[in-house]
Amino acid sequence: MINSKSSRVVIIGTGAVGSSYAFSMINQNITDEMVLIDLNKNKTEGDAMDLNHGIPFGAPTKVWAGEFSDCKYADIVVITAGAAQKPGETRLDLVEKNANIFKGIVDNVMSSGFNGIFIVATNPVDVLAYATWKFSGLPKERVIGSGTILDTARFRFLLSEYFNIDVRNIHGYIMGEHGDTELPVWSQTRIGSEPIMTYMEKYKPDGNQKELDEIFVNVRDAAYHIIERKGATHYAIAMGLARLTKAILRNEQSILTVSTLMEGEYGLKDVYIGVPAIVSQKGVERAIEIDLNDEEMKKLHHSSETLREVMKPIL
Ligand code: LAC
Repeated sequence: MINSKSSRVVIIGTGAVGSSYAFSMINQNITDEMVLIDLNKNKTEGDAMDLNHGIPFGAPTKVWAGEFSDCKYADIVVITAGAAQKPGETRLDLVEKNANIFKGIVDNVMSSGFNGIFIVATNPVDVLAYATWKFSGLPKERVIGSGTILDTARFRFLLSEYFNIDVRNIHGYIMGEHGDTELPVWSQTRIGSEPIMTYMEKYKPDGNQKELDEIFVNVRDAAYHIIERKGATHYAIAMGLARLTKAILRNEQSILTVSTLMEGEYGLKDVYIGVPAIVSQKGVERAIEIDLNDEEMKKLHHSSETLREVMKPIL
């Protein structure tokens, strides 16, 4: 029996991130239908026209500038709308501005009869994923923040450069806030099947922890460095959102470091935070509790406390 239902993804916010995500989705043939929603109707109509004209080079995807009513039959609604970081601004500086925007967006989506999965990308993503969960009333597994999916990708890329190894053979996670309090899980980072320190002793004797720590700092501060140069980041986060969307629509059961609600995992409760989690058509099936050393656990709890402090005004 062919599954007759077309997959539908709605993108709310077609700024740099939203439009780059739409472009990635078509080029990777991830969904049957894609609906673009933004306050700027000219932009969504222009983007829809521009993307449709590329279909002959890409994949047969139906793209249109739509309304909130189109969310009724959506499998996934991705929210990228909101104010973005300006040079010198932290992600947490955006919380009150974007929380107010989100209340309206989520109410409009839920009024359509939407019963799918939210993916939240707008920063501060952990706080806004929590807010979307609260505002929507959906079960926690169906509200997913992009979390540290991008930070983990940056981490793996920089390590692949450092060790001159295919990035697909670099296994490691960035956990915590998608922001300044995130942490690298060095104790569980592997090159192939070798713990990173074992690999480095054997094959990169000139390597050292100081250089590894510099790599982490470049991961944590990457957005600031990119924003200073080009005003925004959008390509990599868009590709991360496409990866997350594919894991859901293809029911992959993939492990990705997304922002999900803690209900006791890692000793954390009532906070959305970036952890390795299994992602499928159900959304987040469960968080994976990897073994952290004492320093890593302490940093994760500090990250959680930072997020809960910032969440207070919007709770
Ligand atoms: C960044 C944005 C997505 O880290 O927060 O590039």
